[in-house]
Amino acid sequence: MDNCIVVTGGAGFIGSNFVNAWVMLGLGKVINLDKLTYAGNLENLAEISDDENHVFVQADIGDKETVAALLKQHQPKAVLNFAAESHVDRSIHSPGEFIQTNIVGTFYLLEEVRAYWSALNEDAKRDFRFLHVSTDEVYGSLTADDPAFKETNPYEPNSPYSASKAASDHLVRAYHHTYGMPMLTTNCSNNYGPYHFPEKLIPLVIHNALNGKDLPIYGNGSNVRDWLYVEDHCSAIRRVLEAGKIGETYNIGGWNEMTNLGVVHTLCDMLDQAQPKASGSYRDQITYVQDRPGHDQRYAIDATKIERELGWKPAETFETGIQKTVQWYLNHQSWVEHVTSGEYKKWIGDNYQAREKA
Ligand code: NAD
Ligand code: TYD
Repeated sequence: MDNCIVVTGGAGFIGSNFVNAWVMLGLGKVINLDKLTYAGNLENLAEISDDENHVFVQADIGDKETVAALLKQHQPKAVLNFAAESHVDRSIHSPGEFIQTNIVGTFYLLEEVRAYWSALNEDAKRDFRFLHVSTDEVYGSLTADDPAFKETNPYEPNSPYSASKAASDHLVRAYHHTYGMPMLTTNCSNNYGPYHFPEKLIPLVIHNALNGKDLPIYGNGSNVRDWLYVEDHCSAIRRVLEAGKIGETYNIGGWNEMTNLGVVHTLCDMLDQAQPKASGSYRDQITYVQDRPGHDQRYAIDATKIERELGWKPAETFETGIQKTVQWYLNHQSWVEHVTSGEYKKWIGDNYQAREKA
């Protein structure tokens, strides 16, 4: 077993940031297994496309034969599962794909990893890790006065997305307790940064602002999210992989709660500075639209455990991270053009045209 890892979903937003950093930091070989759904894009991996430490395999995590063959061939020391359907609004429109990938796909992946792990020698078995990348949304919604989510909070998912992620977390937990497999789970708050697909709030607002379109705010914009720069999420995952206690879960967050309206105002003000409009402010494009059904009011992460036990803290504040992000989007307009294909335009029509303006 050399220093090889398997990453699933490594052509998506967080996965590609993770794989790029892993290869560029010289941490070893990555086998990147991704189905390339609308959210997966090989352009996210352009910087490492010629690197011998990056091997891309287009496949579904539920494709048992391919996963088994890949594990046998590469003998990884860890499997990190980023692959998922990840967008709440899409899960409201078509939950089936979320059940299929996030639950059934994770189950098949776990079965193949179990077969591989069971056949390893004792040393390799002890050193192996399966790290499951999950979300804070499994804990449900907080009121303004509730304490932030701790690892001990009960699971109370409210959307088909968060319910499917919760189910996969439970499967991972069960494989540790039942089969003794060396599992780690991370539950992270909302990420932002490079390669974020422009269906999610921050890249959507940047994209729409620059293209003179409405900036759609669901409800009254008072919903609160904790925001973490994606590179910080990746460094936390590396730290959990390196030093996390087997069978444990770790909450990851940025200690940075903001209302959606606060985020959108920040973005408009930054764009007003960086790329001023001929007249007026980007804030003029803000439009209140019908709320998301079952919209969780507030997410907040208590990241004390990972800081205390593993010494991890985010390197970026929201101010520094969002500066880098806006600059990245301004410098990578061709990336945005490429990913906003016909499929993207159809989604924008499906999701926003039905919403009445508030
Ligand atoms: P994303 O939608 O940008 O990327 C998902 C990737 O998985 C894509 O490359 C897609 O092609 C791939 N994929 C989807 N179904 C697949 C399948 N059946 N087999 C193989 N590959 C498949 O998602 P993201 O935002 O990068 O999120 C990555 C992980 O992190 C997810 O598990 C998500 O639940 C979790 N997470 C995301 C956030 C966030 O703010 N984005 C926060 C916390 C946790
Ligand atoms: P999103 O980026 O979809 O992440 P999540 O739902 O996983 O938190 O949305 C972040 C917040 O922004 C969420 O409260 C919903 C809101 N939102 C809007 O107000 N307008 C939009 O067009 C989108 C996509 C999201």
